[in-house]
Amino acid sequence: WAIYAVAAVAGYLAGSIPFGLVLVKAAGLGDIREIGSKSIGATNVLRTGRKDLALATVLLDSLKAGLVALAFTLIAGREAGMVAGAAAFLGHCYPIWLKFKGGKGVATYAGLLLFITPLHGLVVGAPVWLGMFALTRISSLSALTAAVAVPPGAYLLGERSPVILGGLAALSVLVFWTHRANIGRLLAGTEPRFGAKKKDAA
Ligand code: G3P
Repeated sequence: WAIYAVAAVAGYLAGSIPFGLVLVKAAGLGDIREIGSKSIGATNVLRTGRKDLALATVLLDSLKAGLVALAFTLIAGREAGMVAGAAAFLGHCYPIWLKFKGGKGVATYAGLLLFITPLHGLVVGAPVWLGMFALTRISSLSALTAAVAVPPGAYLLGERSPVILGGLAALSVLVFWTHRANIGRLLAGTEPRFGAKKKDAA
């Protein structure tokens, strides 16, 4: 059990590195927590107009979760990897350094999937997210749809570990929780789209 506790602490600390905040600040663009949705995640970084910073944020946020999950998978097995990756998700969404106000966990979830259960990430998570985004240009809706699809998709792909399946289900529920403001805007028809002209934005 000690290794799971270590995985949880290491995962949380890795996850709580706020790359989006740091990159936007370093570029002299101010505090990302005062822009757009106020999230420190890549989708909100894109709202600064800097695609390069958004790309760097999604890669670094994915890697921080994916690498810590991979490390504990190699040390102690996939279940320990899942604990580390899930803790990284929590660290990203609730970083102690930022008074527990971080991002929404989508990139960290993706990183965890790609590094410890790549099949589920590549066959279910990524295509569902990309497909929904191609259709709607709404990042939050794409994430919510992928979150719904991943746990049953993993099961259909043969995943049988209760820790992995339970972890994915728990993270998907948490994605709904972190997106609760987005869900309100989606229901109200006011969630912004990317690349849409202003008049289409609603
Ligand atoms: O990945 C986060 C995305 O699903 C929503 O981000 O900034 O539009 O709330 P945002």
